[in-house]
Amino acid sequence: MIKGFSKLSKVEKIDYIIERYFHDNDNQKNLLKNFWHEDENLQKTLDEFSENTISNFIFPYGVVPNFVLNNETLMVPMVIEESSVVAALSKASKFWATRGGFKSEVINTQKVGQVHFITHADKSKVERFFSEHKSTLIALASSLSESMEKRGGGLEDIKLIDLTDKEAGYYQLFATFQTCDAMGANYINTILEALGRYINERFKPIDSDIQIVMCILSNYTPNCIVRSWVECHVSELEVPSHHMSGADFARKIVRAVKIAKIDPYRATTHNKGIFNGVDGVVLATGNDFRAVEACGHAYASRAGQYSSLTSASFDEDSGMFRFEIELPLSLGTVGGLTKLHPLANFSLKLLGDPSAAKLMSIAATVGLAQNFAALRSLVTSGIQKGHMKMHLMNILNQLEANDSEKDHIKNLFNDKVVSFNDVKEAISDLRSLS
Ligand code: MEV
Repeated sequence: MIKGFSKLSKVEKIDYIIERYFHDNDNQKNLLKNFWHEDENLQKTLDEFSENTISNFIFPYGVVPNFVLNNETLMVPMVIEESSVVAALSKASKFWATRGGFKSEVINTQKVGQVHFITHADKSKVERFFSEHKSTLIALASSLSESMEKRGGGLEDIKLIDLTDKEAGYYQLFATFQTCDAMGANYINTILEALGRYINERFKPIDSDIQIVMCILSNYTPNCIVRSWVECHVSELEVPSHHMSGADFARKIVRAVKIAKIDPYRATTHNKGIFNGVDGVVLATGNDFRAVEACGHAYASRAGQYSSLTSASFDEDSGMFRFEIELPLSLGTVGGLTKLHPLANFSLKLLGDPSAAKLMSIAATVGLAQNFAALRSLVTSGIQKGHMKMHLMNILNQLEANDSEKDHIKNLFNDKVVSFNDVKEAISDLRSLS
């Protein structure tokens, strides 16, 4: 066990790691240093986002053009390492751009926080305390919310929740907030801790054993929610490459979504595809993808079974097809890394400095588009054809192919299914000829 590791300088940390885990290998040291940013100030900013930083881990930053959302054409930034995600999204964007584009509306932007406490006082006393002190608690929150209230946000309401049937003496103060363009985690936690301290102090005369267990926001925000959709007549959905009518295609998509509604195994992969898109935007804009994922998956389980986050319908009478997502998304366009990370800042500028609500629309719609792209492949050509084609580049890089080898192999596999072994064999055939 090493003591005081965090106190070592960056170089000392690297030396320690290389000596201990890489047997003093200079290549590894250089590898880490090669990813340091040459601009020392910028590197310092990056280092200070976290702790014990020894290098930067670079991810591809891509963009998706032709993304028509609520009649506005956007260029969407995506940070994602998985090949084919951006290509699939670009295809879906182009497809829907000529069919009315994507539509989206933010239903609500409510955030949640809880003070969890234990008291074995009579329930009537807990309830009386809460109703007598509710307005003071709200005023206390307000006194700490000056700048948030100026922007139109703040504490919306607090409720007492009795959970003593689940855990002896367990109550919650359940608070709801509006946090404007901030994700609001720090603001909410500050307010909750102040409310917790107040309850602890003032409830002591009633129950000197009251325990404030914890004061923390909830990342489950089912009322911070956005709906995005596309719709068109099935005559616009024909898939000529697969000799598939628009109606047949619509029925296949509806069936595929139904399967993801019914079966948690499929729902998990289906929703994973949605988050391929959502996370790309969330990362590119410096938002918290862990919070977004946790919330999305909790929401997907709200009926008691994990299920699809999208839904699809085809009205056989009118011929209209509709594909929709409803997704809770707690995002910010101010605070956190959003302005501090130069590329997050760039992403927000690229999107026209959106409000948090607009960013919710963009991220959810990207999730919908990504899901459409995946389902379209799955019910027509299958996923591997396109996937492995994009993956071909990764395989070629792994095999250290040069540019002309890459061109040759890409041509060779143009209409073939890609597999690592086949590519490896083709490369060695090619190399044996030269
Ligand atoms: C791959 O990252 C995502 C998909 O598996 C999603 C899906 O199956 O719907 C293609």
